[in-house]
Amino acid sequence: MTRKRKSIHGQWSSRWVFVLAATGSAVGLGNIWRFPYMTGTNGGGAFVCVYILCVLLVAIPIMMAEIMLGRRGRQSPINTMQALAEEESLSSAWRYLGWMGVVAGFMILSFYSVVAGWTIDYIIRAGSGIFTISSDIEIAGYFDALLASPERLLVIHTIFMALTVIVVSMGVRSGLERAVKFMMPALFILLIIMVGYAMSTTGFSRGLSYMFYPDFSKISAAGVLAAMGQAFFSLSLGMGAIMMYGSYLPEKASIAKTTFMIAAADTLVAILAGVAIFPLVFAYGLEPDKGPGLIFITLPIAFGKMPYGEFFGTLFFILLLFAAWTSSISLLEPAVAWLVENRGMRRPRASALAGLIAWILGIGSLLSFNRWADYKLFGKTWFDMMDYLTSNIMLPLGGLLLAIFAAWLMKRQSCVDELGMGDGIAYKCWYFTVRYIAPVGVLIIFLQAIGIF
Ligand code: TRP
Repeated sequence: MTRKRKSIHGQWSSRWVFVLAATGSAVGLGNIWRFPYMTGTNGGGAFVCVYILCVLLVAIPIMMAEIMLGRRGRQSPINTMQALAEEESLSSAWRYLGWMGVVAGFMILSFYSVVAGWTIDYIIRAGSGIFTISSDIEIAGYFDALLASPERLLVIHTIFMALTVIVVSMGVRSGLERAVKFMMPALFILLIIMVGYAMSTTGFSRGLSYMFYPDFSKISAAGVLAAMGQAFFSLSLGMGAIMMYGSYLPEKASIAKTTFMIAAADTLVAILAGVAIFPLVFAYGLEPDKGPGLIFITLPIAFGKMPYGEFFGTLFFILLLFAAWTSSISLLEPAVAWLVENRGMRRPRASALAGLIAWILGIGSLLSFNRWADYKLFGKTWFDMMDYLTSNIMLPLGGLLLAIFAAWLMKRQSCVDELGMGDGIAYKCWYFTVRYIAPVGVLIIFLQAIGIF
């Protein structure tokens, strides 16, 4: 029996708070902004289908492994990986997996903050009532005008990063917990209202069949990779965010049950977002494959037309901002915990420093919509590159290595002890999936995308 560690950063007050916090991390721009536009650019129903398979067969088992490692290590991902590697007599090079996660966290947060900034701009616009008096073309024009202005983008990027830093500097209990408790249910209810509105439009049945009728001739190998990347991105997997949150999890809580709740809530929100958005796309004669602007163009058009649209529109973007906020804190948390553990920094200082790094990186992202729009590598701007490298490569690679660590290298008994669900059929299912199916799945999708299969 190994000694039980304690986290120096504190602990969630109950497993419900953990579920709420992890759901807060998972549910964010990834569900409401990224999932619909990724579905649109990768062929609709087939993408949704591959996405759900990836969640079930790859993401859920890896999420359990990530939470398990976090709770066993009880430190920042870098130190957790190092401590667990020592405990299992493995190479201390495993700490570099933690490092890759920290780097990925900075990269994701840098562009995430820019997009979250857009929601701030849209709260103000929706509140001003301008969508009610604008034509569809004018509304599309607002989005382009926002992207064309580096100054405006910089202001809202800075505001969002400051919000993130403030919550992270307050620490586990007072900062992170309080933020998620009432925002998540509110967002959920508003999404249902939006789905209700979508049902009343003429595009509803086309929207549904676009999302749920899988035409596999429409999805490419790159699309399959994108679906897997989306699963990792949406569930906050593969970079240590969930590991970090797991390190604050009380000892008795069931990892399997909490994982299923988080994954179910996250998937439900993504699907609801799709069901709310695609009918509007067809009802207003828009294109589903327009990319990152999708919700920032379709939804304002809908808010402009629906009853009480000014109110619902403002509320929607406020809730989206909060969803992004509860996600962004989990991107910063692993780096901050490491600075506190290894550099002896106080939390506020560590948060400010980490936030500053992400903020600087983010400037590249906001410039890639205007001044740097023509600087491309492999046809991708800085923004696209950050997104692609993290979601499609670093997160799945991180998840693959985590699965290998947990299911191939750790002693089987250590896993049994930490998961605490006995050694029965449920455990065996998990062990089999995380040992064989998840890693092989990630590998095949990788290889296929580089054209070997
Ligand atoms: N999952 C969040 C979303 O869907 C984004 C996010 C938060 C994330 N933490 C993460 C993505 C860690 C990858 C890794 O918006």
